[in-house]
Amino acid sequence: MSESMLGMKRTHRCTEIKQEHIDAQVTVMGWVQKRRDLGGVIFIDLRDRTGLLQVVFDAASIGNEGFQKAEKLRSEYVIAVEGIVEKRSEETINTNLDTGYIEVRAHALKILSDAETPPFHIEENSNVKEDLRLKYRYLDLRRPDIQKNLILRHKTASATREFLNGEGFLDIETPMLTKSTPEGARDYLVPSRIHPGHFYALPQSPQIFKQLLMLSGYDRYYQITKCFRDEDLRADRQPEFTQIDMEFAFVDENDVMDVNERLLQKLFKDVLGREVELPIERITYQEAMDRFGSDKPDMRFGIELVDVSEHIKDCGFKVFSGAVSSGGSVRGINAKGCGNFPRRQIDALGEFAVNCGAKGMAWIVVNEDGSYKSAITKFLSEDETENIVESLKGEPGDLLLFCADKNDVVYNTLGNLRLEIGKRLGLTDTDVFKFVWVTHFPLLEWSAEQKRYVAKHHPFTMPLEEDIPLLDTEPGKVRAKAYDIVLNGVEIGGGSIRIHQKDIQERMFQALGFTKEEAYERFGFLLNAFKYGVPPHGGLAYGLDRIVMLMVGATSIRDVIAFPKVKDASCPMTEAPGTVEERQLDELHLRVEQFDLD
Ligand code: AMO
Ligand code: AMP
Repeated sequence: MSESMLGMKRTHRCTEIKQEHIDAQVTVMGWVQKRRDLGGVIFIDLRDRTGLLQVVFDAASIGNEGFQKAEKLRSEYVIAVEGIVEKRSEETINTNLDTGYIEVRAHALKILSDAETPPFHIEENSNVKEDLRLKYRYLDLRRPDIQKNLILRHKTASATREFLNGEGFLDIETPMLTKSTPEGARDYLVPSRIHPGHFYALPQSPQIFKQLLMLSGYDRYYQITKCFRDEDLRADRQPEFTQIDMEFAFVDENDVMDVNERLLQKLFKDVLGREVELPIERITYQEAMDRFGSDKPDMRFGIELVDVSEHIKDCGFKVFSGAVSSGGSVRGINAKGCGNFPRRQIDALGEFAVNCGAKGMAWIVVNEDGSYKSAITKFLSEDETENIVESLKGEPGDLLLFCADKNDVVYNTLGNLRLEIGKRLGLTDTDVFKFVWVTHFPLLEWSAEQKRYVAKHHPFTMPLEEDIPLLDTEPGKVRAKAYDIVLNGVEIGGGSIRIHQKDIQERMFQALGFTKEEAYERFGFLLNAFKYGVPPHGGLAYGLDRIVMLMVGATSIRDVIAFPKVKDASCPMTEAPGTVEERQLDELHLRVEQFDLD
């Protein structure tokens, strides 16, 4: 029954038709959202990516044959309609629709495609299970909320390009088939047909190439590009994701941060109409950990960590004094006004703390009369109790939570409890945008698994000048010229100033436990290139998916990616990854044999 468009040409998208078009003839095309048959008159809600438009069919306007065709229309049929724009009568005005004051009275109809009944209704805020939605992603993508997200994503990418073009950046592509890059996740590998037993790696980022572009003289580079990392997925992690990637020559951290603050300001202004006040606050990594227990602090609310070790280091409660004497600490947070939490809710927070790796969570409720309810105050002197309550500015009605352990456990536990309390107190409004730069990250971190230091960012990150001597003595204490940009507790981007001096790079590899040969084996082409004149340089990359997720108030980047993967890294629609034919494997000189990894 499908007809061709022959003789019809679309004049407007659905919501481009306005009151000024009343009496004009228009041709619109789209999908049937809904059909209402009032006997003698048929109303269609016609949908395209801009929204809905009401089309009216009556036999007088369209003729009997046309009317019979209109009677056949069902949801998701694709149609073309020619008609006259009319003002709706007072009582039929729909103020919920952009086009609610008008309708199109059809005088010609073509059914361009019929449609089977879809497995779910196409509507906003659908509560259909995500698995089903992703299996039929092409239908899910018709939903107005997803369309809104992807349109906003387009605007964000396009405003980014506009801004960076204006700042003198060149958009240069880098290869997808390459060698292992240094971001530290697992690589996706691609077997080579021509070189049996050899593999390309898909880039985890364009890191090495953008550094090479700097020493090739391109000065300012950017690219909006796919990156691939074979990691366990989370709500804000996909195996392939998109970076806004950039690199600058002849700059220091402040130059990189300045350009990026202005970029963020423009994006939020152009895309959301929101002001971002500059400069964006900067805190060091250590301050972020001490105050928020996290290197990606959510700055929408306070509830900061307080170190109370000094007050209880000699107390009789062994859990507390023992943590301090063995090099850890006791810290607390004040869940303001949560003193009325019932016991089981406090116990649930305790369980939450244990799931974060803590051995337990101690608590004190400050009663309305100033007395305390707690299982631990009996182990403390009155002074000790007063001191820790005071350090946390505990007032009647407050709930104070404490964790005693090694510092990293304390940070992680209280950092997460802080977020949990913030959520419960309704302090995490997705319509509030709070940025912060986190600077001075540690250059190296100890890997218990590999029994050596590994680069926290990547091996080309520049140490702070004053910390360079520590590379040989206390590598764990060296701070880096590395910075992350964090929005509402999500790391949206990160970067660093790079090492451009051969001697420092060699000391860095030494600290990482690479011999010169091993370093050359992995990054030889970069190290060789650095022999031929290299400018000081640095850069940054954003996760575009994460920025857009926060802009639209979504909780998963899947909602802002047209064709995302699910938790086990598969695609329910294409059923990738899949098996391949024996012949294809032969060509690649590969044989598949399954064995257990232990
Ligand atoms: P980094 O590894 O920090 O830095 O990555 C930059 C940003 O990319 C985003 N991101 C991800 N988004 C979705 N899914 C993932 N699996 C994922 N992994 C990372 C994050 C992160 O902040 N080459 C360096 C940048 C540089 O030094 O210039 C790099 O890739 O938002
Ligand atoms: P206990 O005497 O072991 O029952 O502990 C008394 C209180 O201290 C309980 O509320 C425990 O949850 C809490 N607690 C135990 N270990 C820790 C810890 N590492 N940090 C903070 N509180 C703890």
